[in-house]
Amino acid sequence: MAIRNLRYEGDDILKKKSREVEVIDDKLQTLIDDMIETMHKYNGVGLAAVQVGILKRVIVIDLYDDKGPIVLINPIIIKTKGEQEVEEGCLSFPNQFAKVIRPAEVVAEYTDRNGKRMRVHAKELLAQAIAHEVDHLNGELFIDKIIPGTLEYIEPEE
Ligand code: NI
Repeated sequence: MAIRNLRYEGDDILKKKSREVEVIDDKLQTLIDDMIETMHKYNGVGLAAVQVGILKRVIVIDLYDDKGPIVLINPIIIKTKGEQEVEEGCLSFPNQFAKVIRPAEVVAEYTDRNGKRMRVHAKELLAQAIAHEVDHLNGELFIDKIIPGTLEYIEPEE
């Protein structure tokens, strides 16, 4: 496993649409392991492959609860319900936080890393994370949908 280099604000790749995964091979498994390690290194709750420079529809999410890291390949949001106003950041925008409106609930389908098609009914933070990461796969960034005037720069504590 290895830490991959993150792509940051201003990198054109972040605006590109990622491609469907067609085969789950060793190379993809390595990418997934590296994405999880990279997300953990930077204390993120989610990471999309595009953020490490790979335009594949793969996201990893970890809420640091008993569910462990979740891997979603080719995720599709099939239903959303309600709204939540939430504070949000992104590993590609270090130290920047803003309020955004996300769905309160999300039903998503995805393929897990074993190739099994799955469905998740997510609420609260998980719904927010899935919506944020699926946006990345479509080249959409949270910074373009923030509630005006809510952007804050917060320096990390040493
Ligand atoms: Ni992000």
